[in-house]
Amino acid sequence: MELLPLWLCLGFHFLTVEWKSRSGTATAASHGGCKLVGGVADCQGQNLASVPSILPPHSQTLILDANPLKTLWNHSLQPYPLLESLSLHSCHLERVGRGAFREQNHLRSLALADNCLSENYKETAAALHTLQGLQRLDLSGNSLTEDMATLMLQNLSSLESVSLARNTIMRLDDSVFEGLGHLRELDLQRNYIFEIEGGAFDGLTELRHLNLAYNNLPCIVDFSLTQLRLLNVSYNVLEWFLASEEQAAFELETLDLSHNQLLFFPLLPQCSKLHTLLLRDNNMGFYRDLYNTSSPQEMVAQFLLVDGNVTNVTTVNLWEEFASSDLSDLRFLDMSQNQFQYLPDGFLKKMPSLSHLNLNQNCLMTLHIREHDPPGALTELDLSHNQLSQLHLAPGLTGCLRSLRLFNLSSNQLLGVPTGLFASASNITTIDMSHNQISLCPRPVPLDPVGPPSCVDFRNMASLRSLSLEGCGLGALQDCPFQGTSLTHLDLSSNWGILNGSITPLRDIAPMLQVLSLKNVGLSSSFTELDFSGFRNLRDLDLSGNCLTSFPRFGGSLALQTLDLRRNLLTALPQRVVSEQLLRNLQTIYLSQNPYDCCGVEGWGALQRLQTVADLAMVTCNLSSKVIRVMELPGGVAQDCKWERVDMGLLYLVLILPSCLTLLVACTIIFLTFKKPLLQVIKSRCHWSSIY
Ligand SMILES: *[C@@H]1O[C@H](CO)[C@@H](O)[C@H](O)[C@H]1NC(C)=O
Ligand SMILES: *[C@@H]1O[C@H](CO)[C@@H](O)[C@H](O)[C@H]1NC(C)=O
Ligand SMILES: *[C@@H]1O[C@H](CO)[C@@H](O)[C@H](O)[C@H]1NC(C)=O
Ligand SMILES: *[C@@H]1O[C@H](CO)[C@@H](O)[C@H](O)[C@H]1NC(C)=O
Ligand SMILES: *[C@@H]1O[C@H](CO)[C@@H](O)[C@H](O)[C@H]1NC(C)=O
Ligand SMILES: *[C@@H]1O[C@H](CO)[C@@H](O)[C@H](O)[C@H]1NC(C)=O
Ligand SMILES: *[C@@H]1O[C@H](CO)[C@@H](O)[C@H](O)[C@H]1NC(C)=O
Ligand SMILES: *[C@@H]1O[C@H](CO)[C@@H](O)[C@H](O)[C@H]1NC(C)=O
Ligand SMILES: *[C@@H]1O[C@H](CO)[C@@H](O)[C@H](O)[C@H]1NC(C)=O
Ligand SMILES: *[C@@H]1O[C@H](CO)[C@@H](O)[C@H](O)[C@H]1NC(C)=O
Repeated sequence: MELLPLWLCLGFHFLTVEWKSRSGTATAASHGGCKLVGGVADCQGQNLASVPSILPPHSQTLILDANPLKTLWNHSLQPYPLLESLSLHSCHLERVGRGAFREQNHLRSLALADNCLSENYKETAAALHTLQGLQRLDLSGNSLTEDMATLMLQNLSSLESVSLARNTIMRLDDSVFEGLGHLRELDLQRNYIFEIEGGAFDGLTELRHLNLAYNNLPCIVDFSLTQLRLLNVSYNVLEWFLASEEQAAFELETLDLSHNQLLFFPLLPQCSKLHTLLLRDNNMGFYRDLYNTSSPQEMVAQFLLVDGNVTNVTTVNLWEEFASSDLSDLRFLDMSQNQFQYLPDGFLKKMPSLSHLNLNQNCLMTLHIREHDPPGALTELDLSHNQLSQLHLAPGLTGCLRSLRLFNLSSNQLLGVPTGLFASASNITTIDMSHNQISLCPRPVPLDPVGPPSCVDFRNMASLRSLSLEGCGLGALQDCPFQGTSLTHLDLSSNWGILNGSITPLRDIAPMLQVLSLKNVGLSSSFTELDFSGFRNLRDLDLSGNCLTSFPRFGGSLALQTLDLRRNLLTALPQRVVSEQLLRNLQTIYLSQNPYDCCGVEGWGALQRLQTVADLAMVTCNLSSKVIRVMELPGGVAQDCKWERVDMGLLYLVLILPSCLTLLVACTIIFLTFKKPLLQVIKSRCHWSSIY
């Protein structure tokens, strides 16, 4: 670990030596390179080898980031006694003179990120100790160990915010933050912390935000920082999170435990203000169903908390993990990418304020929607990428999803949804049912369902604006399946044959639609040209992966901005496309992967000038059985095409002429043979010498 900083700093040595040799002239010129605005002097990246001394002496903020200063001398800052903020990011600093900050009584904010302060850390620490009014200190990226950090922070009791991110701290003992009674924010992310001694944060009575992300912490037990508002322990190797059992009121509002290895739902404080709980990417599940409730003694875990020679035993009931937690203020719960197979009874009932619930990428198989469950405040529910084959709705339940705005059911195994489920979601705007093998109800279904639902009906969902039915294996649309909705975004892609050659089933919603995806649906224009004239507000149209042989019509839809025609069977761009009004608003058009004929692409020049073809470099065409990039088409290709046509004509002529002549001669002979008299007449008239 000690080697790493050494190497880094050696690297910087070389760099600075090189920069210095060039900086003699550069420095003199670059003094004028500092930007002065109000009391701020901004000298970033001016290749300065020392702090300029000719800036206004009343400067309050000095930014010297990215200059190869290397050393901050005792006298360097003397001309600026009124500094309140000093920034020295990436200045290759190895040394800060003991007296460098001696006269900086006004300094409140000091940024020393990305330097080599581990080199002469004792001297630097001594310099920092003269800053008795300092409030913000950034020491990130300096290869500091815990001992160095301890020394540097000692007695800086005025500090309110400290960053020690990206250093080489491995453990925190109870002396590191001693005496930092005003500290409100502490950033320790991206270190190698694997152990935090009990009491390390005890003196930090004002601490509100603690970031421990990207460390190696294996567990957090007996968490008792009641004053903390935000705790971030994401990207560690946590297997346990266990709050102290005391009844104290925690101020905790946001807890980020994502990207860890938790097996159980965290054991949260019994009284807290938690509103955001992030548990993404762990190994959590609920296990009560696996165990028999009649033998409760088997369902507890005992923690031995060892502190010195005192050992305390904490017993927790794992199968009731969420039951004792206070989740009444919870608004945002992310449980995605875990192993949840079910949600226990009463789980959601404990969260009456919940508005966002993310259960994406779990193993849920069924979901029962009961009274007060899910909570009435829920606005976003993401159940995508599970194994849901059924949703159950308690009979007689209405309005249970009344606040829901987004419902994501993508990539499950649903065949339908209970009638009444969507009807009760009176405020819903977005439904994603993509990648479920559903079918659409051919006619409106009555509200009293008999048997399991076998189809989905979106009719008359007045609030619905965005619907994805991608890859649902839908058959040809019967008339008006989206009647009574306010759809502006519709995705029907990858349902082969859904439109059965015509876009009339969309006529109800055509005037409102803004974004329409008809990718891979088997549209062809062999009989009639596709006509999108009625889609007056259409901005974005995806027609890729179909069998279109001719360009669709866009008579009235002047709003079109993006059009995707990749992977079709277009052979030519009609000239009118270029001139048509359509292109006035069009910003992006995709045209590649079509078998264009190089001789029929005369509109290209105009398109290229418009710069709307996003994939122009990939557009190819066929020129006498060769495939050529349109961009690389030789200039006189039109000429070539004409020549080619002429050549072909000549070839035909040369091939056909001898046959014709032979035929003619043969015919003549036959004719003459059967019309002897005539031959004789000719013979007599012409005095031919006869062979017979
Ligand atoms: C900087 O000042 C300190 C006393 O504040 C003194 O001990 C040290 O020698 C000085 N360094 C230089 C290079 O003058
Ligand atoms: C910190 O403060 C304590 C008590 O005020 C004092 O004994 C100690 O010398 C100080 N340490 C430094 C490095 O200034
Ligand atoms: C926690 O820290 C990580 C890493 O910096 C960051 O990506 C994440 O957004 C933080 N979480 C919260 C809730 O701020
Ligand atoms: C639980 O125990 C009861 C009685 O002891 C038994 O009937 C039942 O089958 C058990 N269930 C499981 C899942 O083991
Ligand atoms: C052990 O329990 C005692 C009494 O409840 C408590 O005072 C002490 O702080 C606990 N120690 C640990 C390490 O939790
Ligand atoms: C262990 O506990 C005893 C009594 O409780 C105490 O006197 C002793 O100092 C403790 N030893 C250590 C190493 O903490
Ligand atoms: C429906 O949504 C509107 C606007 O987003 C909101 O004002 C209203 O309170 C919502 N209704 C319910 C029952 O949540
Ligand atoms: C639904 O979830 C899937 C997969 O998690 C995601 O790709 C999609 O964008 C989500 N849909 C909406 C409308 O947010
Ligand atoms: C598809 O269209 C053809 C002709 O328009 C019609 O005969 C056929 O019944 C349609 N298929 C379905 C499934 O609607
Ligand atoms: C263009 O060339 C490709 C590959 O040689 C061929 O598959 C395609 O049928 C050709 N298309 C036309 C219109 O000639």
